[in-house]
Amino acid sequence: MAQTHFGYQTVDENEKARKVRGVFDSVASKYDVMNDVLSMGLHRAWKAYTVAVANVQPGQQVLDIAGGTGDLARAFAQRAGKEGRVVLTDINEAMLRTGRDRLLDQGLVLPTAACDAEHLPFASNSFDLVSVAFGLRNMTHKDAALAEMNRVLKPGGRLLVLEFSKPAAALQKPYDWYSFKFMPLMGKLIAGDEQSYQYLAESIRMHPDQATLKAMMQTAGFAHVDVHNLAAGIVALHAGIKC
Ligand SMILES: C[S@@+](CC[C@H](N)C(=O)[O-])C[C@H]1O[C@@H](n2cnc3c(N)ncnc32)[C@H](O)[C@@H]1O
Repeated sequence: MAQTHFGYQTVDENEKARKVRGVFDSVASKYDVMNDVLSMGLHRAWKAYTVAVANVQPGQQVLDIAGGTGDLARAFAQRAGKEGRVVLTDINEAMLRTGRDRLLDQGLVLPTAACDAEHLPFASNSFDLVSVAFGLRNMTHKDAALAEMNRVLKPGGRLLVLEFSKPAAALQKPYDWYSFKFMPLMGKLIAGDEQSYQYLAESIRMHPDQATLKAMMQTAGFAHVDVHNLAAGIVALHAGIKC
């Protein structure tokens, strides 16, 4: 069995998927409040920026991968309108259920599918836009997931990857304190789960930096890959076009 990373641990590949599932099973019910606390509300601005770059038009077909509690899917659905279609997907049923219920409470019924981004159950060339926000980092075979995202996009369609990235050097020290002290502490106090937020900090450090992810997207068949640094590179939005 090949090995991979789960945060700073080296684990068997199938063990990683199980552990990632455990993290999101554990945090699903507190996911939204923890997002607001840990990012001090900034995740809303990062997602709003992503929605603006996406520029979804009425009638478009959109796939939100690792969509969790549905923030992006909701915003895209409002723009795609009745003639369009926005599909909310995630590998984790607890996250997907929380997202679907939240959307239903807001009067929005979206097609949802529990699926692994590495094996998408959709026809090739079927979406105008694919998005993945804060999800790629958790995937075992990121290259396989990016290739699948490319496959399901129509030629000329766009992939948007919003993810933690490598911040400017001046931020490194305070960011390390914030990540390894503050985040696990808040995880313990609010969600009763310190370990999942320790994993969050470690998984961010293990994720490819801006230039590496751009190269991975190009290898997966995306052209004109733009990198938008947000919050001095703490987060980056990568946008690529399927040729
Ligand atoms: C940090 S949450 C992000 C949720 C949402 N996109 C957001 O921005 O708030 C990461 C999500 O990635 C999902 N995920 C992890 N591995 C995945 C995979 N291989 N395929 C699809 N989703 C996956 C998790 O279940 C989790 O819901």
